Amino acid sequence: MKTHRPILALKIDGLPVETWVAETHNDDPGTYFITHQDFTPSFSVLSFQEIPKIPAKVTRLEFATAQQVYGAIAPHPRDATNPQVIDGFRIAQQHCYRCHNMGSYGGTKAGRSWQTLGTFAASSPSTFERYLRNPKSIDPKSAMPPNPQIDEPTAKAIQTYFQTFATTTTTPH
Ligand code: HEC
Repeated sequence: MKTHRPILALKIDGLPVETWVAETHNDDPGTYFITHQDFTPSFSVLSFQEIPKIPAKVTRLEFATAQQVYGAIAPHPRDATNPQVIDGFRIAQQHCYRCHNMGSYGGTKAGRSWQTLGTFAASSPSTFERYLRNPKSIDPKSAMPPNPQIDEPTAKAIQTYFQTFATTTTTPH
């Protein structure tokens, strides 16, 4: 909030967002519209650079502390000194959490929880990495956007972090 000063538009040109959008656009942004006046990335982790988060189809706003929201996906204390897990966490909290949920926190677009991702990362690490970069190469119908900028060390960090959330123990293949 302090760094990017996002704008929550409740009315545009005096009209509720939904009315304004229905008159001016074809797609549905939801009840609320969040944007930025301008955006400059404020950090990067490995090959991942911060991207503006302009959520679509926002119908509900919930306010919680950063401790609650990010605490839900924080690395386990036993991993607190593993740099790969820490890097993976910082990327996941900025990026994956918008669409993937942990319990009642995080986005619901993906319908695949943190544990599902963790189990995927633990059981099929190389497929997981390919999915991150190019989801359609694994599942042609996947609705997840590609991340071609994710290089090998970055993919490894994300994968190592998610593996710590695996719910079942499986043999990697
Ligand atoms: C803009 C939304 C969005 C973001 C950001 C996003 N995902 Fe996804 N992801 C999806 C959607 C939607 C699906 C479901 C794909 C489908 O079947 O259509 C998905 C599916 C997946 C799957 C496959 C799960 C399965 O069981 O098939 C993996 C793995 C995954 N995402 C990992 C990640 C990781 C790791 C990140 C962060 C680096 C991330 N995603 C960021 C939207 C997103």
